[in-house]
Amino acid sequence: MSKSEQAELPNLSHYWVPFTANRQFKAMPRLFKAAKGNYYTSMDGRQILDGTAGLWCVPAGHGREEIAVAVANQLRTLDYAPAFQSSHPLAFEAATRLAAYMPTGLDRIFFTNSGSESADTALKIALAYHRVAGNPLRNKLIGRERGYHGVNFGGISVGGIAGNRKAFGNALSGVDHIRHPLDIEKNAFTKGIPQDGGIALANEFEQRMLTLHDPSTIAALIVEPMQGSAGVIVPPAGYLKRLREICTKHGILLIFDEVITGFGRLGAKFGADYFDVIPDMLTCAKGLTNGVVPMGAVAVKREIYDAFMQNSAVGSIELPHGYTYSAIPIACAAVIATQDIFAAEKLEARAAGLSTYLESAAHSLKGLPMVKDIRNIGLVAGIEFEAKAGASAFAVYLKCYELGLHVRYTGDIIAISPPLTIEKHEIDRIFNTLADAIKYVASQGEAGLDVSRYLKNEQQWALHQQHTI
Ligand SMILES: Cc1ncc(COP(=O)(O)O)c(C=O)c1O
Repeated sequence: MSKSEQAELPNLSHYWVPFTANRQFKAMPRLFKAAKGNYYTSMDGRQILDGTAGLWCVPAGHGREEIAVAVANQLRTLDYAPAFQSSHPLAFEAATRLAAYMPTGLDRIFFTNSGSESADTALKIALAYHRVAGNPLRNKLIGRERGYHGVNFGGISVGGIAGNRKAFGNALSGVDHIRHPLDIEKNAFTKGIPQDGGIALANEFEQRMLTLHDPSTIAALIVEPMQGSAGVIVPPAGYLKRLREICTKHGILLIFDEVITGFGRLGAKFGADYFDVIPDMLTCAKGLTNGVVPMGAVAVKREIYDAFMQNSAVGSIELPHGYTYSAIPIACAAVIATQDIFAAEKLEARAAGLSTYLESAAHSLKGLPMVKDIRNIGLVAGIEFEAKAGASAFAVYLKCYELGLHVRYTGDIIAISPPLTIEKHEIDRIFNTLADAIKYVASQGEAGLDVSRYLKNEQQWALHQQHTI
């Protein structure tokens, strides 16, 4: 990196980087300064292929002019309208567009600002719904082991990633978790959906959990159709359908958290469409605005919305919940522009068409050192390494970055989820680069896990920064 580029570097001291080992990051910072299409430009001017669509949130690719123009125009026309007791037309238009994109029946939309807020909003709606419908004793919430529903207290309570929970005390009471469906011993290297065991696993929900708690006390079950953050856990055949049947039988609301699986990721609009299972509520965020303006949404079945309208006193606030930035005009403009892109470019179909190509490319890594399992569905792949407390996956991630590819590591897993605009030759590049990185890290033995071996350029840059506070 040249002297003049070093001069552009920001002071790294003040920003507390989320979900990041800050001391390590600031010693070898990975900063992007621009993005276009399927590529980032790193601070030192390299083109980095985006193997993860940002954080799963840029399905239509980076730098979409249509969205930029819509947001900029909106900002100049109506920058903000109070979200409570008044609103603006675009909020209703965005909700109408989203309702039309949702699975049948999920056509009442509550806007939030993130996936975490969507999860907590859905849980609150579930509890309030049973109360307003005359069943206040239905107040327990069930999540799933290794589930991720964001970082707010509701989300971490029903979430099942231990590391995200243990620092934060007791969170919500009245919560339990069903088992996750990952079974590497039986299903390692399965292409797509594992075929066995799904119904039996779902039946456990009824036979064990509901027996233990009494089904009439359960308000809702929340699951991700495909568990993304815990490492691409693909549900076995029949599993989600059976969960749906059990919830319906016992009057329990089924919530799909589609923050990752929404907007074409699996090759259909939502996981609900892909698996042909309609939940009672569906949460989304990320791809809703192509990742450019923070926004989330909860789509609820009309009967749920109607229960609030019919059973609350006229003039009362039916749901005392909302955010200052719910349906902020620029986010609504981004939703509409993103929906226009999806409609014009049929990105869901594009993802579906590329999914077997990605599957073959991903499974070509089978047999490489350290690789314990490979899982895939739609335009998602997960490569799980022999357990090393995340060290191998982190080293592979750093090596990939060095080689010009951005991947996501989570525990011992590398997850791949490129923009839906990815080309076949770029899919090849993703998995060829990953193969090179895996071989390199493995060839170095224990030394390969030493992070100081990677990103010498970035390390040098950090050393040169002038700021110390
Ligand atoms: C399934 C799921 N739910 C919720 C969230 C939280 O979203 P956010 O980071 O926008 O709060 C995520 C984020 O990755 C997610 O994958």
